[in-house]
Amino acid sequence: MDMDKLVSLCKRRGFLFQSSDIYGGLQGFWDYGPLGVELKRNIKEAWWRDMVTSHDELEPPVGAPSAYDMTGLDCTIIMHPQVWKCSGHYDLFHDFMVDCRESKKRYRHDQLRGRWAEYDGRRVFIACEGGGEEGLAQTHARALKLFNLRAKQAERIAWTGELISLTEIDALAQVLGPDAKAVGTLTDPREFNLMFKTIVGALGGEEDAAFLRPETAQGIFVNFKNVVDSTRVKIPFGIAQIGKSFRNEITPRNFTFRSREFEQMEIEFFCHPESSADWYRYWRDRRLRWYRELGLAEERLILREHEEHELSHYSNGTADIEYAFPFLPAGEFGELEGIAHRGDFDLRSHMEGKLDEKSRPLQVQLGEDGKPLHRGSGKDLTYRDEVSNDRYIPHVIEPSAGADRAALAFLCEAFSEDEAPDEKGKMQTRTVLKLHPRLAPIKAAMFPLVKKDGMPEKARALYRTLKQRWNVFYDEKGAVGRRYRRQDEAGTPFCITIDGQTLDDDTVTIRDRDSLKQWRCSLSDCEAELAERLR
Ligand code: GAP
Repeated sequence: MDMDKLVSLCKRRGFLFQSSDIYGGLQGFWDYGPLGVELKRNIKEAWWRDMVTSHDELEPPVGAPSAYDMTGLDCTIIMHPQVWKCSGHYDLFHDFMVDCRESKKRYRHDQLRGRWAEYDGRRVFIACEGGGEEGLAQTHARALKLFNLRAKQAERIAWTGELISLTEIDALAQVLGPDAKAVGTLTDPREFNLMFKTIVGALGGEEDAAFLRPETAQGIFVNFKNVVDSTRVKIPFGIAQIGKSFRNEITPRNFTFRSREFEQMEIEFFCHPESSADWYRYWRDRRLRWYRELGLAEERLILREHEEHELSHYSNGTADIEYAFPFLPAGEFGELEGIAHRGDFDLRSHMEGKLDEKSRPLQVQLGEDGKPLHRGSGKDLTYRDEVSNDRYIPHVIEPSAGADRAALAFLCEAFSEDEAPDEKGKMQTRTVLKLHPRLAPIKAAMFPLVKKDGMPEKARALYRTLKQRWNVFYDEKGAVGRRYRRQDEAGTPFCITIDGQTLDDDTVTIRDRDSLKQWRCSLSDCEAELAERLR
């Protein structure tokens, strides 16, 4: 799939715009237009409904170790600064970056790759931003330029090994940066905390500094006790939250994939330590199924279990659900969602003080004065089982998804071009978004075939009936073929045409976006027919 075509469709049809577009945009920030906002709301609603409100608390769902409760929460974006000290974000949530003194560009150290090239006694590490074939092509072209060679002299350059990460290179003086003409312009890697800082209060100073949350998860942990005390939930149970998160990403890129402001859909699932491994497997499989059920193709989705060395200190297992985004080199996948077994790290840290991630078993991290480096709340976050009287700190399984990444994956999957006849029966290329009906921004469009003979009146009456239930659209302008095309691009699954026959027998034509099949249905059955097909 051609990513440029999708990006241009998104702008042309009002799915996504660059934030502050008229001022030239702001890197890493995106706005959802009239169609995009409906798509994203539908994704969030599908997630909330499937995970929370329609969850059956009486029966164990397929693959679950037992029945469980689900509830929700909506926390503030700015929280007490101590939250981020105990969560580890204050000390640990950073990336390493390198700056280019020549191009003034900044890169994430771990995202640059390159290859050693040697010519005429000169050995240079040619760095690039892409991977795979694209990365190789970039390094070849840039080496020719650097050594002042023509394409037919390419074999004079001796290359060592495959593309490797810049993190493996110590000799930065021998590196040609991705946008530099001279060698040795990259600075040493520097740490950069990804949290956005702000000041609370009109008279506030540095001591009133707070952070915009980099994840919604911590708001759930710090409300664990409130939820247990104010509801009748019993372990095992989950708390879900959807909301904005902010990360000052060094290199926002790939359309909305890595943004600085984005929305997360997170569940913290609290369970007994003994059954936590079973719950981890349940959530991993359940979440993968959710993406498939909403239309992501099996061959473009993978579940990648983290290797031992990738796991966080406290994690007994983490898996990423990854999608073959079209902007990635062939064979590479990008993270859609992470499912992590977090043990009791978070509740203990908020109770006792930030734990030392290197300690075994985990212990509170101490400062030079021998006191906790970051003090916890001191509140009792243990849980007492009413039946067994057993008291313990629950373990947590965390399925953490990104609403914007999901929207991007669903758009990439849905984008397609095929052939369909125009009004004169001539085959034309058709751009269509084959979105799952639950996600489609507009569920159905109503067209009177012509603007006379009572057809608009019938079409408007149907529009008003259906509008009470779904986001439907009325269009009487232009040739009907053109109207179909516009709805295909918007991803509308059904178009309903009111024509001459409607006036005789009160039947309409329904057209299916994907198969292009058309069939007649009585006006009075339209709502039921759509309800059946929009599930
Ligand atoms: N509480 C765990 C946590 O936040 P994460 O892997 O850092 O884990 C979870 O983030 C999900 O949030 C990712 O899988 C991704 O979908 C989304 N996400 C993270 N950073 C993002 C960014 N800069 N832009 C868009 N989505 C992002």
